[in-house]
Amino acid sequence: MMLSWDDEATSSAPAPRAPAAGDTGASAEQIAKRVNADDKRIINGKTDVNQLVPFKYKWAWDKYLAGCANHWMPQEVNMQRDIELWKNPNGLSEDERRLVKRNLGFFVTADSLAANNITLGTYRHITAPECRQYLLRQAFEEAIHTHAYQYIVESLGLDEKEIFNAYNEIASIRDKDQFLIPFIETLTNPEFKTGTLEADQTLLKSIIVFACLMEGLFFYVGFTQILALGRQNKMTGAAEQYQYILRDESMHCNFGIDLINTIKMENPLLWTPAFKEEIKQLFLKAVDLEYRYAEDTMPRGVLGLNATMFKGYLRFIANRRATQIGLDPLFPQEENPFPWMSEMIDLKKERNFFETRVTEYQTGGALNWD
Ligand SMILES: [Fe+2]
Ligand SMILES: [Fe+2]
Repeated sequence: MMLSWDDEATSSAPAPRAPAAGDTGASAEQIAKRVNADDKRIINGKTDVNQLVPFKYKWAWDKYLAGCANHWMPQEVNMQRDIELWKNPNGLSEDERRLVKRNLGFFVTADSLAANNITLGTYRHITAPECRQYLLRQAFEEAIHTHAYQYIVESLGLDEKEIFNAYNEIASIRDKDQFLIPFIETLTNPEFKTGTLEADQTLLKSIIVFACLMEGLFFYVGFTQILALGRQNKMTGAAEQYQYILRDESMHCNFGIDLINTIKMENPLLWTPAFKEEIKQLFLKAVDLEYRYAEDTMPRGVLGLNATMFKGYLRFIANRRATQIGLDPLFPQEENPFPWMSEMIDLKKERNFFETRVTEYQTGGALNWD
């Protein structure tokens, strides 16, 4: 710990000291203790986590800035057309209504799991302050996402008990969350500490599960469904919110992949054949769970989508995530059946795809000192 309230630098009667290298009056010993970027490590680092600079992991800082540049709030999006469509008995088919409710049933709690995993788990095990800075931004974005899902539930007047309890009561949603929860509990357990091969592999595994399988795979059936509704000019307010969320989540996933690859580079001993095999099995399990969720939310074809199309899409995404972290593709070459999803991910803030945004959230300049 570099910070001390009673060291000689803050004493009212400083002791004589050796000539300082700087002009602040710091001793040579203090200057020798200053943070060197080269000494920083993503995990098990010994440098002061309170000093953001000097930067070592510029990619993390750049993603933090990009996340801030993408800032949005749910109430920016007008939900009036969605409300009218939902209230109109002929507005949506029964299958479309089931899809929306099961979709929200997963998402209303998913981002709380993600936020808790970051703030109570991952954050304290990461020793690079620029990565922590990104995680703080990410945690707030997860809060915005939970807010967005709540805002949609409230706007449509859905039964909030039904939607918020879906993760206990709907098997296809519960199974996805049950798969994730042990990885959260490992990191949030106060006894858990990194610093051994086994513990460091456990942390890396949890980060892979969250970045590649939760944010990188478990969200994609749901995102595709609501964006497909929007492309058919239905639920355009919800679809606009999901577009912003998708953009945030692809940044979270990319940050997680950079984090994973840097941890691997700094700790090559963690990446053993047995560990890679374990990760591969987790990928296969996650693809299976997400496919079952697709079947449950779309028991029949709806919106020109069906569960079988998602089998190909999930394999395509899983192959991409696997290769992004240095694993071999898991499935034979799969084509992307939804190429339009890639355009959605590249959304620019200025581009208002569904042209439904009408309000402004309060920004800087609104303070009054009188
Ligand atoms: Fe999120
Ligand atoms: Fe996220």
